[in-house]
Amino acid sequence: MSKLKVGVLGATGMVGQRFVQLLENHPWFEVTALAASEKSAGKSYGEAVAGRWKVSSRVPDYARKIKISDCAPDIDCSIVFSALDAGIAGRIEQSFAAEGYAVSSNSRNHRMEPDVPLIVPEVNSSHLELIDSQKKGRGWKGFIVTNPNCSTIHMCLALKPLHDTFRIEKAMVTTMQALSGAGYPGVASMDIIDNVIPFISGEEEKIETETLKILGSLSGSSVENAGLAVSASCNRVAVSDGHMESVSVKLSMKADEQGIVDAFRGFNPLRQLGLPSSPSQPVIVSEEPDRPQPRLDRNLESGMCSVVGRVRKCGVLDFKFTVLGHNTIRGAAGAAIMNAELMKVKGYI
Ligand SMILES: NC(=O)c1ccc[n+]([C@@H]2O[C@H](COP(=O)([O-])OP(=O)(O)OC[C@H]3O[C@@H](n4cnc5c(N)ncnc54)[C@H](OP(=O)(O)O)[C@@H]3O)[C@@H](O)[C@H]2O)c1
Repeated sequence: MSKLKVGVLGATGMVGQRFVQLLENHPWFEVTALAASEKSAGKSYGEAVAGRWKVSSRVPDYARKIKISDCAPDIDCSIVFSALDAGIAGRIEQSFAAEGYAVSSNSRNHRMEPDVPLIVPEVNSSHLELIDSQKKGRGWKGFIVTNPNCSTIHMCLALKPLHDTFRIEKAMVTTMQALSGAGYPGVASMDIIDNVIPFISGEEEKIETETLKILGSLSGSSVENAGLAVSASCNRVAVSDGHMESVSVKLSMKADEQGIVDAFRGFNPLRQLGLPSSPSQPVIVSEEPDRPQPRLDRNLESGMCSVVGRVRKCGVLDFKFTVLGHNTIRGAAGAAIMNAELMKVKGYI
């Protein structure tokens, strides 16, 4: 099978570097273009990321010599992965979609637009059907598909099996989010060492709104939000990678702890699809009383799964548990790559 040509917009940033790393030797996709701001354009990728490479492996050889392009829709590929700064992602992604590219975006700009799919493949793959109405409504030759915020993805992977089995009425989440989630250089070291910052701009709103769209159902040319209440409190902590979340849920059906664990373990709706980035188990349940932990568990399933632990009764809602997931792999670049794999299998690209 000949590989599909793909490009990365914002290839020099934290998430862009993850795309470049994860796309090395991808069985279906070949990187033929890397793009960033005018500050980087014209340089080789190796030159542009020298001293800025923050991923724990070397800059892949295939990428070193690629000349960085401007983010203009004339690059040599049919799919673009967007890791652009949200300040400029909206306009640039639209220009690529209008010109016929399939845009798999990681930025927040288009996530909540009614005709834009916000996808977690194991949770709401049917929402890809919005692509048809998006193209028609906007008169685009291409389209935009988005992946959720890094904390939302991991929470939704954990909520979906419980929502399907027991109907969630309410969910409360307190996050402890890693520094890499803020890009580079991110939070100043003087602000975060020996400290926790109880505010991440816009994050609580993203978790509260995106979750309802993702767990919602397709209704014609938009999504009807799921009917649960979500409340989020977000904190930045001094962890390099891996977002941890304490979640409590109220369920409308009767459940016990074993039933909750069984629902997590039995959840594997894409088992048969053979997507290259798909984890063999999307939600892993950890039995140890002090797990999951970011340093020990974030790379399970190559960073593509969510790890759940500490499932127990809650004295206020019904049950509570901890979720951990890698924020720049399954929470960002890996999510957008898996979305593109799903689009290919479903015939959209
Ligand atoms: N970090 C995470 O865990 C995470 C998780 C989920 C989603 N996200 C989202 O992913 C996106 C990227 O995040 P990040 O952490 O990788 O940010 P980042 O490290 O600041 O990287 C931003 C990228 O955008 C490029 N860029 C900036 N201004 C540009 C312009 N005017 N024209 C073209 N390119 C421009 C930069 O290129 P230069 O290097 O040339 O300036 C760089 O490649 C954001 O929208 C973020 O919200 C991040």
